[in-house]
Amino acid sequence: MKLKNITTVVFAGLFGFLALAQENGAKYEQEIEALIKKMTVKEKVGQMAQITLDVIGKGNDRYTSFEPLQLDEKEVKKALGDYHIGSVLNTANNRALPKEKWYEIIKEIQDFSINKTRLGIPNIYGVDEIHGATYTAGATMFPQQIAQGAARNPALTKQGAAITAYETRASNIPWSFSPVLDLALDPRFSRMWESFGEDPYLCSVLGVAAINGYEGDDNNISNPTKVAVSLKHFLGYHATISGKDRTPSYIPEDALREYHLPAFEAAIAAGAHTIMINSGIINGVPVHANYELLTTLLKEELGFKGLVVTDWADIENLHRRDRVAATDKEAIMLAINAGIDMSMIPYNYEVFCDGLVELVNEGKVKESRLDDAVRRILKVKYELGLFETPNTNYKDYPEFGSKTHEKASYEMAAEAITLLKNDSGILPLKKGTKVLVVGPNANSMRTLNGAWTYSWQGEKTPEFAAQYNTILEAVQNENGKENTTFVEGVAYKDGGSYYEEEKKDFDKAIEEAKNAEVILLCLGENTYTEKPGDLNDLYLSDYQTELALELAKTGKPVVLILNEGRPRIISKFERETKAIVQAYLPGNFGGDALADIIFGDVNPSGKLPYTYPRYPNATISYIHKPSEEQKKAEGVYNYEADYNPQFRFGDGLSYTTFEFSALKLSSKNIKKGENVEVSVVVKNTGKREGKEVVELYTSDLYASSVTPDVKRLRRFQKITLKRGESKTVKFTLNPKDMSYFGREGNEILEAGEFEVMIDNLTSKFKLTL
Ligand code: BGC
Repeated sequence: MKLKNITTVVFAGLFGFLALAQENGAKYEQEIEALIKKMTVKEKVGQMAQITLDVIGKGNDRYTSFEPLQLDEKEVKKALGDYHIGSVLNTANNRALPKEKWYEIIKEIQDFSINKTRLGIPNIYGVDEIHGATYTAGATMFPQQIAQGAARNPALTKQGAAITAYETRASNIPWSFSPVLDLALDPRFSRMWESFGEDPYLCSVLGVAAINGYEGDDNNISNPTKVAVSLKHFLGYHATISGKDRTPSYIPEDALREYHLPAFEAAIAAGAHTIMINSGIINGVPVHANYELLTTLLKEELGFKGLVVTDWADIENLHRRDRVAATDKEAIMLAINAGIDMSMIPYNYEVFCDGLVELVNEGKVKESRLDDAVRRILKVKYELGLFETPNTNYKDYPEFGSKTHEKASYEMAAEAITLLKNDSGILPLKKGTKVLVVGPNANSMRTLNGAWTYSWQGEKTPEFAAQYNTILEAVQNENGKENTTFVEGVAYKDGGSYYEEEKKDFDKAIEEAKNAEVILLCLGENTYTEKPGDLNDLYLSDYQTELALELAKTGKPVVLILNEGRPRIISKFERETKAIVQAYLPGNFGGDALADIIFGDVNPSGKLPYTYPRYPNATISYIHKPSEEQKKAEGVYNYEADYNPQFRFGDGLSYTTFEFSALKLSSKNIKKGENVEVSVVVKNTGKREGKEVVELYTSDLYASSVTPDVKRLRRFQKITLKRGESKTVKFTLNPKDMSYFGREGNEILEAGEFEVMIDNLTSKFKLTL
């Protein structure tokens, strides 16, 4: 076929597709408008209401259900029939269900919604499928987002999201509350690990990759292997002053736009269908009541056309927690008028539904606001194909939990795990080394996965994940049981809060260390998220610190393996360790990947997605202002407390070495609107194949509106190099990379000098306007 013909075919195909998409859009639009015309106020309000599954489960109350789970016909009729509730979320009894059970339960909900209500609108079921199908037994659990940030491999993130979407649909669930686009800025925050990292660009790139995996490149979510995403938590959720969940933040306009907004903006441009709101408070105003953020910024300026859902109970929180409303009803008025489309109620739906109907009747909420909300909700339901195909059946998903899916999870863990220290090349260990495996994280599937795994806080993981390998089991497989001794030393208390620990065979651990050649010390945290994960002391626990110090006294080399959701401070004993491996929360195959790294089958390539602090009073991120590094300035003497983290954002070693050279810019004089092409040569100068993340940073040397950041990540690319191989890596910087947000929140491009940095190489260019 001649080129011209190919072009014609491509264009014809493209136009055909566009025409079809437009036709579908128009068709939906008409159907949606027709439906809205038919709906009573009560029916509209019902569409805007979301309840949790236990509310309609058979049980003694709304908070738990009898096992085995069954729907309560009376409660279903009241909620879905009398109140027309259009959405259900979550699992029941905080426990994962078999996919067959999910099919049965959601099909019952759909059958009722479609056949037993006046308008027959299908329900939309939503679940937090944040690193795999969280609440489906047998689903493939991936490394958590923070580990994905370390892997720095968008293709793997996309693949993981696509598999999760598939397994979510195999569970008859079409909507997931993922990905998290908040910045992991604060190591104290209990949800740091739910983020891709502390950098806005990293979060943008991986966020878009996740959306493309979940929704498909074309966002065609009627495809039964795709789900609708919910970006969360809009906006600035992790930036609290106290470091504790759902406490106040103060975020000036420039910081909001410079750091917190870009990942959401990129995700909205990538077509994300829904968004969840930050449960916290910014500048004194709960975000759920903030018209400027929800309507002016999100819906008008960013042009978000999708569905805006609250976080858990956040309308009643406006009254009960934040006290900006004197009654529940006033809280409903504030939130709906601010721009909320759907309320994750999740229990007392009568209060929300009756209250909102009254508010419309009293003229305090306009019916046109309800129409806007319902339009957005129905659009997602139509686009998901729920009107034609309300259920997806697990029988059509033969790849659920397959070996191929498990391999993808393993690969991501293998690329995420980060080698932070390797004195005198102690790692990799030779197979057959006499090792002592010790510590509370050594033999736990729960800690490998973190929270949102088979249960909210992750405490039910042992029930569901016994078939996978803990670190200990994976080390035994690699190294031989006969060469591997295990003593726990310190244990997490059964049934206690995540931070409760006890000594367990502590002295025995020290004794056994004397017989070992190498100590594999597995420390970190038990699992947590949200309020239950709030933290008072960023140092790693006292018992674990004592264990590390006592083991080091034996003189045997200590290889520290960290399995933690946030960087707990280790400076009291870091010097006593020979090697440090950060495993993050690597999922069900993280033990295998870690053992492969320890014994050299895999060459590590993860890079820290956050700054690892050395002291509790030094938790500043790599994105900081020049005044944080005053040792460079004259006359300032407190060098000790200057910026000097334990490990830096982007740190991560390999078993091979890479050399960077020939950093080139296309021009040193750039005019307004021009791009800069940057290239660098990377060579593998070591003895084995390896993967390297090439990261490009820039510094704007002077900025007039606000003091500039010392440096910022602008591009990255992960490459594989064989022994001796070189590659030229090219990046393009555009004017956006040279601009910043000033104190009024306005984007500013200023003439001046910029520095470009890759590894230890630097070069400058000048921008003239
Ligand atoms: C969390 C959200 C989650 C929601 C639904 C909330 O408590 O903050 O991240 O999506 O619950 O489970």
